[in-house]
Amino acid sequence: MREGDFEETLDRFLFYREKKEKGEEDKKTYGDVFDKRTLLAFYKILKRSVEYVEFPISTGKEAVVFRAVGKDGRYLAVKTYLLTRLNYKGLSRFIDGDDRFANVHKTKANIIFIWARKEYRNLATFADHGVRVPKPVDLWRNIIVMEYIGDETRPAPLMKEVMESLKKDVIYDILAEMKKMLKAGLIHGDLSEYNILIWDDVPWIIDVGQAVPVNHPLSTQLLARDVRNFVNLASKFGVKFTPEEVLRELEVM
Ligand SMILES: Nc1ncnc2c1ncn2[C@@H]1O[C@H](COP(=O)(O)OP(=O)(O)O)[C@@H](O)[C@H]1O
Ligand SMILES: [Mg+2]
Repeated sequence: MREGDFEETLDRFLFYREKKEKGEEDKKTYGDVFDKRTLLAFYKILKRSVEYVEFPISTGKEAVVFRAVGKDGRYLAVKTYLLTRLNYKGLSRFIDGDDRFANVHKTKANIIFIWARKEYRNLATFADHGVRVPKPVDLWRNIIVMEYIGDETRPAPLMKEVMESLKKDVIYDILAEMKKMLKAGLIHGDLSEYNILIWDDVPWIIDVGQAVPVNHPLSTQLLARDVRNFVNLASKFGVKFTPEEVLRELEVM
């Protein structure tokens, strides 16, 4: 990478530039994203699929999600895993035992890249099976580019934030998504109103990094958890399900 290229990468990080100009660059909050390796990864993404990065939509414990604009002018969501926050044990639990990554050499240094690849693949598999997830667009190292859910004024809100405005039909929509996820051969593993976006009253499933194949050693435990969460969520809408009924709906029993 030439000196000028590096500057261009920074430049197209509009958010970063604004902060810099204002002289209020908040290293503590955003500095993690801009470690050199991540910037180099962004360089690749900015060449391939993203025209520029606008601003963070979400700053989580392990990842930051940006709104960006793609080469075709459409909005994109760019999820960047923070290399400084990695939790090797936490992640490898979900990667060990996954046949898809059986022959991949796992180290502390590359586990986060494998994790991002896993999330990207899970999104692709779900999308192929008609699960309503953001379509994956690009992947490079710790950066996942995907379809953006929302419009120019705001990203789609979390289900958690709009519970009161939803009709109970949403529960049956979510059940239908769960059914498709199982048909795709994967268990989400972290399904809740915090990982469902609502746009035009319709649920979108997100945050699929931890999803594992049905033959994974953790699959039973994770499915049980998803079903429990679903039963709780349904009850908030006055819809009564027992876990057994849900499993029957999902054609597991
Ligand atoms: N494709 C997307 N379109 C719009 N907003 C998104 C998209 N993906 C994620 N977000 C926003 O970013 C937040 C964090 O994303 P998520 O994948 O749940 O990461 P994590 O919970 O691991 O930080 C979400 O709650 C949502 O508000
Ligand atoms: Mg989440």
